[in-house]
Amino acid sequence: MNPLAQQLNTTLDTSVVGRVLSQVGRRMFFPKGIVAQAAEASAKAHRFNATVGMAVGKGQPITLPSLEKQLPSLNTKEAVAYAPTGGFPALRQAWEQQILQKNPSLKQGDFTLPMVIPGLTAGIFHAEELFLDPGDEVLIADMFWGNYRLIIEGRREAKIKSFAYFSPDRRFNVAGFAEALKDAASRLKKLMVILNFPNNPSGYTPTKDDAAAMARILGETADAGLDLVVVCDDAYFGLFFEEDCETESLFAKLAQAHEKILAVKVDGATKEDLVWGFRVGFMTYAAKGLSPDQHTALLQKTMGTIRSSVSSSPGISQSLLLKTMNSPTYQQEKDEFFQVMKERYLRVKTLLEGPEAQAARDILVPLPFNSGYFMSFACQGIDAEQLRLNLLDEGVGTIAIGTEYLRIAFSSIDSEDMEPLFQTIFQAARRLAG
Ligand SMILES: Cc1ncc(COP(=O)(O)O)c(C=O)c1O
Repeated sequence: MNPLAQQLNTTLDTSVVGRVLSQVGRRMFFPKGIVAQAAEASAKAHRFNATVGMAVGKGQPITLPSLEKQLPSLNTKEAVAYAPTGGFPALRQAWEQQILQKNPSLKQGDFTLPMVIPGLTAGIFHAEELFLDPGDEVLIADMFWGNYRLIIEGRREAKIKSFAYFSPDRRFNVAGFAEALKDAASRLKKLMVILNFPNNPSGYTPTKDDAAAMARILGETADAGLDLVVVCDDAYFGLFFEEDCETESLFAKLAQAHEKILAVKVDGATKEDLVWGFRVGFMTYAAKGLSPDQHTALLQKTMGTIRSSVSSSPGISQSLLLKTMNSPTYQQEKDEFFQVMKERYLRVKTLLEGPEAQAARDILVPLPFNSGYFMSFACQGIDAEQLRLNLLDEGVGTIAIGTEYLRIAFSSIDSEDMEPLFQTIFQAARRLAG
């Protein structure tokens, strides 16, 4: 093994991180190659800097004038230069402040500086690569974003274990979660858990009480001897529409919960800041008892996976995001967006109480939802995929999840179009049911 990887392993081996690293994770390190040497040179090479593979003239990256014309607010460095492997430090610090603001129970220093990754997908991918070996188990409630399967099973050859997302009383299934963890603790030494709230596809976030119970159960599972990697996929963070939704990330409850729990926060600008194609996400770690050296070693491992896969995240998106976050009207603009989403949410809730919805209630059962971009119907006695195809023939796009669920992204429908959309869905379902 490379001596630098070995050194990082030695630093991490006294903590939960050392115990949960995969074989790939153990081999990862950040090479003292071109990127590291170029970083040293940018601090010290006052005369000539002939390190990095960019075209530079008069100290600035050279760009095509036609491109420059498109980007009046960015200098050429902000527009086209490579970003550092872990992202621009100023953006990382700004995101750290956002995490603290949005999760008041977290304290600075409880967690690592967020590392920039090219979208949340990359965060999930890097977490799986660093902490999953073939055959390892990942516990996920049965409503989950389909790409998890491709990454976990397709790439990592690990196994998804699931339990029902909803309890019979239409809340998050805390009892099922506890049961699944108890079973894992009786068989395994380590387990990854993925929590995604607000959830895709259900649009449901646990209540404050249920979230507290989940954190307690994870602590008890760790007490029972299981090392846990808990990945909090906070893609839709902030879009909580009901009073009793837990508005902090589970990451905040787990960050300092237990020496056997490594909490990994995967979040980003994608949905929170309405920049889906920017490819700017963040990965942040915390575990009780990790030293600053261990934080650094874990970030070096992560930089190793970034460098060996995508090398770095887009610089132009990072520059634009940072400027946006620094704008004096940033928060106000986000509040306005929240109100637009909440209005759409409330419109859907009202429509689901209406006569058309009630008439279709035996075939299209709305699952609980209180947050995020989506709601889903459980299809009873009709095939969700057939319903989707029939709706397509009427010019309406929805997502079928297997044969059982139909997902509606109310985030992408104007409030005034919500009624005709849902009427079309109810009527098509009733026709299909015959
Ligand atoms: C739950 C969840 N996680 C992650 C992602 C991916 O986000 P990104 O586009 O930043 O990779 C999505 C996108 O739909 C999602 O729904």
